[in-house]
Amino acid sequence: MSNGDVSQGRRRFLIGATSVVGGVGVVGAAVPFVASWNPSAKAEAAGAPVTVNVSKIEPGQQITVEWRGKPVWIVRRTEEMLKNIEKLNDAVKDPQSEEPQQPQYIEGVYRALKPEFAVLVGLCTHLGCVPSYRPEVAPADLGEDWLGGFFCPCHGSHYDLSGRVYQAQPAPLNLEVPPYRFDDDATLTIGLDPEAA
Ligand code: FES
Repeated sequence: MSNGDVSQGRRRFLIGATSVVGGVGVVGAAVPFVASWNPSAKAEAAGAPVTVNVSKIEPGQQITVEWRGKPVWIVRRTEEMLKNIEKLNDAVKDPQSEEPQQPQYIEGVYRALKPEFAVLVGLCTHLGCVPSYRPEVAPADLGEDWLGGFFCPCHGSHYDLSGRVYQAQPAPLNLEVPPYRFDDDATLTIGLDPEAA
């Protein structure tokens, strides 16, 4: 593994983030949604919270937003995805999120305030590459036991759809969950804790 590989992973993120913005623009969905991803450069530099309208995310879809210079994924998980996460409790290293990879108010197997929405920092906990979203079940390249998750192209770490790393992977920890809260059912802010927290 060279630093070049890591930079390539980061470049992939930049390209990926750009194409998501472009994709939403093309289908004409929710202009305010796109605008809310782009706080001014000054605010962004200061680490401003990022507000996202999650109501337009389709079941099973992943979007990427940028927060503090990092890619943050939001995945709208289906009932089937949630059931598959439960099936992987014995296959992952830290099934109940005991390592400090998330705020205190995030716990358990879904690692989310609302199970329907996963919110994860999209950087591999091994050397920081950007894993790929692989929601399909048993694709040829990942094998029959694959129930959907994230695959890191740099050294092959596997994560489930809660960002929990499988056992015996190069990555030591689950993906990070950033602080976030729901302002209402359709609006999520990354970078702010829930008021009760
Ligand atoms: S950076 Fe090494 S497995 Fe992801």
